[in-house]
Amino acid sequence: MDRIRIKKDDNAAIISSKLHGQFIEFLGECLQDGIWVGEDSVIPNYNGFRKDAVDALKKLGVPVLRWPGGCYADKYHWRDGIGPRKDRPVTYNENFNTFEMEKNQFGTHEFMELCQMVGAEPWLNINMLTGTVAEAAEWFGYCNRKEDTSLTKERAANGSNAPFDVKYWGIGNESWGGGGMYTPQSYMADYRKFATGMPTFKKAGPDGLEGPEMKFIAVGPDGNKPEERVQWTKQLFDSFGEFRQPKLDALDLHFYNWNIKNPKDKVLSFDEDGWYGVLHGSMEIEEVIKEQYQLIQEGLNKIARPTEDYFYQEPQCELYIGEWGNWHMEAFFAKPALYQQCTLRDALTTAITLDIFHRNCDILKLACVAQTINVLNSIILTEGETTILTPNYYVFEMYKVHRDAARMLCETETSPAYEKDGIAVDGIYSFASEKEGIISLNIINADMEKARDIELSFEEALIYREGTVLNGDSVMEYNSKEHPFSVLPKKADSPSGSGNTWKATVPPASISVYHFEK
Ligand code: AHR
Repeated sequence: MDRIRIKKDDNAAIISSKLHGQFIEFLGECLQDGIWVGEDSVIPNYNGFRKDAVDALKKLGVPVLRWPGGCYADKYHWRDGIGPRKDRPVTYNENFNTFEMEKNQFGTHEFMELCQMVGAEPWLNINMLTGTVAEAAEWFGYCNRKEDTSLTKERAANGSNAPFDVKYWGIGNESWGGGGMYTPQSYMADYRKFATGMPTFKKAGPDGLEGPEMKFIAVGPDGNKPEERVQWTKQLFDSFGEFRQPKLDALDLHFYNWNIKNPKDKVLSFDEDGWYGVLHGSMEIEEVIKEQYQLIQEGLNKIARPTEDYFYQEPQCELYIGEWGNWHMEAFFAKPALYQQCTLRDALTTAITLDIFHRNCDILKLACVAQTINVLNSIILTEGETTILTPNYYVFEMYKVHRDAARMLCETETSPAYEKDGIAVDGIYSFASEKEGIISLNIINADMEKARDIELSFEEALIYREGTVLNGDSVMEYNSKEHPFSVLPKKADSPSGSGNTWKATVPPASISVYHFEK
């Protein structure tokens, strides 16, 4: 029998809802024919946005949404996407394997409208590679300026009198790779220009600088490269801390769970090694989060503090993950580009990853899954007119209860489900949080074949309320146009017991969320 002891966390860290953020990009059918179908489409839509997808995202609630990339951000000129849609320039999209004409029908105003519909805070990513500081500063002024300038008049003429009040601004994307092949030093040299060239909207007030909160997000490391990721963050701060410091509020780490080593492993067909290998791969991100947080603290400590500067603000830098998810080999050859189906295996890694974020909510403040629709670790897939909610969607939905809840501690005693060639995967993974007198407990049974009995012990007597389980007839189960509801959350069997001690039985390859009341 496995055991989970659920305890109050004395640090009572609160899980930011922004750990459940998402990401959309001009890539494959993420925007065109994905979320955006156009007003004249036969596909039911709200002002051009695919109705079923918007409804699903609205129901889920999207705390933060990042756009226009990704790699595409460093090719994107925001002026191509404003003004009457029929007059917008046509460009060409080579992003990954997209190779399509880009008619720029989805631009700044459409993005803001989408954010408004699904309840998201926008994160805009600035073009640092083929754009200029002036272009970025103008986008900033176009979006956020309240005063009556030519840019804000243009915004009003394009449909929005009110500013968009965008708080999150990413400066560049993966600049160590496709975003410019920068070194940490050369990136920081350009970052300084972009960060200082942007309007801050800050005015001098009696308590120092006053103005809206604005987050400037620098490119963080390639989370998949252990040596390089340490050097990127270390050297970024080394070249940052010498003299005057530009505004830098967060580092944007990217981490993909690559599944490209075994050519026999397919998205829809894999063996035991493939199941456990991919699960195991998703767990590495926890070590990367801890390492990067530590490096940021060390970097901040090295920064020289001026002694006499009225406007001096203690440097702070948060850790964000702008992109994460499974990346299977077949995605590279897919049409539409980077399209991947999503099985129960992807749902389990999504649950494992979100629980890692929840557990580390004191050091990780925001994360965006890559991507919302039709790209990689998708929440939603489309096939022509049909909109399909993937098993990942249901994980996010079941995990909504943890948004803004207080983290609890779970001590899990379990036995291994798999041990081979240095890869070890336990049977049971767990996480719990508390909000408004309800304790919500996640139990992931990673065991591919066996149900597990688990003894649950709490510090106080609780009443069981309800529970949900996500699993399937097979570990390769997925949702498609033909079978849109193969993987759906169901009512979980009630745990037996009373007071402090309960016993739950979780099916193989499953994600369960139980709710207990105080
Ligand atoms: O999410 C797909 C791509 O992956 C993004 O454009 C890029 O930032 C990353 O390499």
